[in-house]
Parts: sequence; C-alpha cells; structure tokens
Amino acid sequence: MEHSDRTLAAVAIRMSCARELAALGERLAPPSVRVVESGGDAEINCDDRSESIVTAAVTEFVRKHRCLPRSVRVAGLGTFLVTPPREGRLAGCVAIVTGSAQGFGLGIATEMAAAGGTIVVADLNTELGEAVAAQLRETHGELAAIFCLADVTDSRSLHACVETTVKAFGGLDILVANAGVLKAGGLEEMDEDAFDLVTRVNYKGYFLCAQAVAPVMKLQNRICADWFMDIVQINSKSGLEGSRRNFAYAGGKFGGIGLTQSFALELVPFNIKVNSVCPGNFFEGPLWSDPERGLFVQYLKAGKVPGAKTLEDVRDHYLSLVPMHRGCSPRDVTIAILYLHEQQYETGQALPVTGGQVMLN
Ligand SMILES: NC(=O)c1ccc[n+]([C@@H]2O[C@H](COP(=O)([O-])OP(=O)(O)OC[C@H]3O[C@@H](n4cnc5c(N)ncnc54)[C@H](O)[C@@H]3O)[C@@H](O)[C@H]2O)c1
Repeated sequence: MEHSDRTLAAVAIRMSCARELAALGERLAPPSVRVVESGGDAEINCDDRSESIVTAAVTEFVRKHRCLPRSVRVAGLGTFLVTPPREGRLAGCVAIVTGSAQGFGLGIATEMAAAGGTIVVADLNTELGEAVAAQLRETHGELAAIFCLADVTDSRSLHACVETTVKAFGGLDILVANAGVLKAGGLEEMDEDAFDLVTRVNYKGYFLCAQAVAPVMKLQNRICADWFMDIVQINSKSGLEGSRRNFAYAGGKFGGIGLTQSFALELVPFNIKVNSVCPGNFFEGPLWSDPERGLFVQYLKAGKVPGAKTLEDVRDHYLSLVPMHRGCSPRDVTIAILYLHEQQYETGQALPVTGGQVMLN
C-alpha cells in the first residue's frame, strides 16, 4: 500500500528521533509527532520532503544536540510538533483500541492510558467514544487520546482511522482488536443474517484491522529495526473450547486464533508480534449486566440455567463454573496485554485469562 508523503514524514521523524535517542542511551520510546498546517519557525527545516532527507535531518539534529527537536517543518507538508513520551510501561506507544466506547475495550483503553499509552478510541458509537477520549484527556493530558469513528467491517473506514492516528500522533505501535458482537443461538434458532453479522465483526473484522495497521508498522520497522510492535486480538475462552448453542461466536473466535498464528508468522520479520488474549466472562460489563438486553436477563428468560428463578441464580451458576469464583475484569485483560507487549520472545499465542476455567493442553 502507498503511504502519503505526510505519513512517511511523520513516521520518519518519530522513529528516527526514537532510534537516535536510544543510541545515546535513553529508553527506546518514540515521541508524539503531530502535524499542524503552519507552525511558524521550526527547529529543523527540510526543503525536500523525501523520507531519507527528513530522516537524515532529524538524525543529525539529535546527534548534535542530544535531545529531541521541538518542531520539524517539511516543505509542502506542514510543521510536525514533537512531544516527549509520557512515563509508564507503555511510554511512547500509540494504541488503537477498537470497540473501546464501552465494555472490555473501555476498561482496556483506560488501563493502557494509565500505563502511559496514547489511545485511539476506535468505535461505531460516536457519543460514548467521544466521551471516553475526553475523559482520558482530562486525566492524562491533551495528547493522551482521540476518538476515531471506525467500523471494523469496513476497510476504508479502518484505513482512514490509521491515517487519522498517524496525523495526530506520528505512528502506531499497538492494535488491540477488541470490537466484537455476540448473537447466541443453537442450530434451530440461528438465522443466516445473525451468523453473518457475528462472523463479519469478530472474524473478518480482525483480518481487516490487521491489514489496515500492518503497513505503518512495517514502515516504522524500516526506520527503527529494534522497535517491537503488537497486534493483540481480544478473543475469548470460546475461542479455545466449544460453546453450547453459541457456535457462530465460538467458530469466529476459533478462526481468530488461526488468523493470529498466521499473521504472527507473516509479520515476525518486521518485529510485529501477534497474539490473542482469551478472557473469561466479564459479568459486570454491559454484555452480561445490561438490565434489558444483557445475557443474565436473556438466559433467565430463556430458561438456559435449569432451576434459576432470579438474575442472581443465573449469575451464581456462571460464577460456580470459574475456579477463582469471580468474573474477568478489564484489568485482568490489560495485564495480559502488557505482558504480551513487554515480552520479546513470543508470538502467535492464545493466552487464556479465565480464572482457571479454561486450561491449555
Ligand atoms: N463480555 C464478555 O464476557 C467477554 C468475554 C470474552 C471475550 N469478550 C470479547 O471482548 C470483546 C469486547 O466485548 P464486550 O463484552 O466489551 O462488548 P460490548 O458489547 O460491551 O462492547 C463492544 C464495543 O464494540 C463496538 N462495536 C461493535 N461493532 C463494531 C464495529 N463493527 N466496529 C467498531 N466498533 C464496534 C460497540 O459499539 C461497543 O462499544 C469482544 O471481542 C468479545 O468477544 C467478551
């Protein structure tokens, strides 16, 4: 895929800054690079917009001054403002978290921002998504998050989201492919439309997200070969073992692990790790606890749990299936994401986070 000149310049500035500061002994953590149409006088001025010239100019500046430039003007493209990374385990990392307007995604985005990450809240739900991004900015500063309207079933919208991300922050280091839907039902109830929707969002959507983010990640690798990047799919325990009367969901999640292993093999030469996290049930999240459409209500009405008379009975039944006797939280999932991000000798894995409910063979 062709990158725009602006993307090439932003990534060249960000990654050459990171590479050169690391060569001087600093932690490898890229700065934030934001493009503005005209930014007045800049510390570096490039009359030539080619990637190699921009990289050379930034490299020379950092080696000479032993610090980041505050701004780089590239003829015809605008001024790129450079801001040092925030502190934390995710210092310097820009992460797109799909489906982060609510549920697991919201919690993951919040935890990742608290760990120093810069978050792109990518969701179909503009109202909730905007509010999440605004809250993250209020807590962690203006450069901590943006909202981006994105539909994981539409490759054009995903490419636009990646472009917006690079324009706002200069690059992209982590994709958390979290957006997902669930339509349960056995063979007698499941209609084709419901099956297609679940497959399109949970399975094909993951492919489209990986396809949209890989080009920028590869470009970053070309400029700074030591930088590791991550694609993390939020899978499910239903991706590791069958789920009764829930085959559309389980099938797509099993397939997701096949995608993870295959993407991992394809992207390993570029230091892009690809892994899945397989959480247990998040009982406090809207999927289970929504008072009208949540699974507790649905399962009570459908008589799915024999003998259950109240929502509490349904909940107790599901809790009894978990050896650790509690549901999975966004924090549990984020700890797994941070582990996958920090380790540099594993890819293509499916990591259960299920309180012991699912154990790997
Ligand atoms: N909730 C659980 O118990 C549980 C357990 C295991 C795994 N998971 C997985 O975690 C992920 C998140 O689940 P959740 O329970 O938080 O869901 P949720 O329904 O609470 O939130 C899903 C979010 O994704 C967004 N979304 C839906 N379709 C989208 C699309 N096409 N493009 C962009 N955004 C879209 C929604 O607007 C929403 O904000 C899913 O992949 C799910 O399979 C959930």
